[in-house]
Amino acid sequence: MKKITFTEIKIFIIVGFFGWVKNIMSDVDDTKIKPRKTPVELVHGKKVKSTKMLFFKSKSVTIKMLFNKDDLTNGLYILKKGEIVPKHYNDYDKAFYVYKGKVDLFVKGAKKTLVKGDSVYIPKGSVTELSQKGSQVSQVYFFYPEGPLKSIKHYDGGSLTKASDRDGNNVRVIFSKDVPWENWDGKIKDGKITPLAWKTLIENKSMILGITKIDPGYDVDSHYHRQTQVVIFERGQGETHIKDGQYVPVGVESVIYPPTYSTHHTKNTGKEALWEIYFFNSGPFSSIKYHFDKKKKP
Ligand SMILES: [Fe+2]
Repeated sequence: MKKITFTEIKIFIIVGFFGWVKNIMSDVDDTKIKPRKTPVELVHGKKVKSTKMLFFKSKSVTIKMLFNKDDLTNGLYILKKGEIVPKHYNDYDKAFYVYKGKVDLFVKGAKKTLVKGDSVYIPKGSVTELSQKGSQVSQVYFFYPEGPLKSIKHYDGGSLTKASDRDGNNVRVIFSKDVPWENWDGKIKDGKITPLAWKTLIENKSMILGITKIDPGYDVDSHYHRQTQVVIFERGQGETHIKDGQYVPVGVESVIYPPTYSTHHTKNTGKEALWEIYFFNSGPFSSIKYHFDKKKKP
């Protein structure tokens, strides 16, 4: 077998270094990044079969698994009367978004009641417990900026827990009613929600979670970015871009996952506002470079 010479090793290192620098520079220079042809993935949550998420001591919770990716995990807890997501913690940060019904959340050693639109940021090592409340089945979206699910271990958060934050003191609850609406001009101060507006519920280095409202005739222009995300359609009807200009219908509980630099765009095709829940697998917002196909900001 031919031996690799020292000169060849040097060439390898130099070529590799310039390749790495080129990559970094192209990420910095907006104009050089072209959209990729990778199709946007789409699931219709209403058609997804429910399954069981296993915890420790054979406890389990009914879920719908929506996106189970290497860089992002998104699913829906479905809690019938009296059911709970047991006290647990993970090695990864996570977020919850209450989609239907009410839940009690164990946080800072006490219970808080959360309703539709409320969300929770749970850093790694913090113990939480969710319990169903009220007469309606409770549904809560969960998000991890990591994946796939099999790589995320659930640890017992009970009395003998080894969690670094056993009382959930670092958990942050965000009540939607307390969060101001925003648009491209910044926070909306006069209370008049513009036809295109959003709320940033969670924003830190590991994730961004928010909601967007798009009135008929308005949209967020076709765009792409390096970070992956999921967008869950919560209300209204639309058509979403998949690949090469092809659009398909989306409705309540449809979810899209645009892979890195895949062009995505959703048009409101209904008579009512289109509401979306969006989650990025890193943040803050200032770190996300939006590349618009038409080179304009909506
Ligand atoms: Fe996006």
